Amino acid sequence: MANLTDTFGRVANNLRISVTDRCNFRCRYCMPEEGMEWLKKNMLLSFEEIGRLTEIFATLGVTKIRLTGGEPLMRKELWKLVALVRGVRDIRDIALTTNGYFLAEQARLLRGAGLDRINVSLDSLDPATFSVMARRAYFDRTWEGIEEALRCGLSPVKVNVVLIRGVNDGEIEAFASLARARPIIVRFIEFMPIGREDGWSIESVVPTREVIERIDAVAHLVPVDRDPASADAVKAPAERYRFADGAGEIGVISSVTQPFCGDCNRVRITSDGKFRTCLFSLKETDLRALLRGGAPDAEIAATIAGAVKGKEEGHLINRPGFVRPERTMSSIGG
Ligand code: 5AD
Ligand code: SF4
Repeated sequence: MANLTDTFGRVANNLRISVTDRCNFRCRYCMPEEGMEWLKKNMLLSFEEIGRLTEIFATLGVTKIRLTGGEPLMRKELWKLVALVRGVRDIRDIALTTNGYFLAEQARLLRGAGLDRINVSLDSLDPATFSVMARRAYFDRTWEGIEEALRCGLSPVKVNVVLIRGVNDGEIEAFASLARARPIIVRFIEFMPIGREDGWSIESVVPTREVIERIDAVAHLVPVDRDPASADAVKAPAERYRFADGAGEIGVISSVTQPFCGDCNRVRITSDGKFRTCLFSLKETDLRALLRGGAPDAEIAATIAGAVKGKEEGHLINRPGFVRPERTMSSIGG
């Protein structure tokens, strides 16, 4: 079978698809508070178009799909897309990243349609701080969504925590306790500069080294060995740790302080059907135009393979050449 190899020898087998740019939250690290303009419906890829692209990517060696947004559950009847993707041969793993708001009502449908895993963004366990991070007072609904996901067997549920110095970094230990008490894997993510100005500075980043030290001081952590036999395990961006006494697991994603670009196996499709080889790409390839212009599968596949050849070596955050992508995370897909 064909595969998507770039000029640095990395193989892309993991496709992240943003299904909508819309979101009912305004997380401060992702979107400005006001003035978001949403894409018109016909600019988004249809479920059929996403299904067709998934088939094409599968022939190119992609085995893992993550649906993201924006908030993917803002897209009506998303479970129908999950079922469509589930039907594509060779797709082994389907995951969803969500803010959790609609999960209480949809988790069961999603599970039934074939969703394997879920990541819920939850930046605080304190409703007041949650509202500061998300700019919406939706803690209770998000929490209910997490509980329902656990109840219907989407386990473990992963919780994504983006840490911002001075806002939620006081909760590192509380999140660690959650990971010990419940079948929830908590993943601490370094705040990245992306999208419009949002007050990012290197001082606002909480290095994951500090996260590990602080948790380890309370409950001893042991690194989870990345199984060398599993190609995927080596490539996961999260470094995993379990607690020495056996209860619980956490992960840290050091995008800023220790970039993992050398192991990157990911590529992306934006909500408007542009193909990106890196979160920080300044270049995009318009797949929607090909789909709607009547291009045959072989031409689309060749275009994708060609774009992967141009995949950048890595991001340049904190280096002089860094150019912040203007697109918000919500339109690229987190
Ligand atoms: N820095 C780090 N992570 C981000 N996300 C969105 N914006 C940023 C950013 N600036 C991630 C969060 C969220 C997911 C949708 O995208 O982890 O859970
Ligand atoms: Fe991959 Fe780009 Fe992320 Fe680096 S910044 S890990 S190359 S997607």
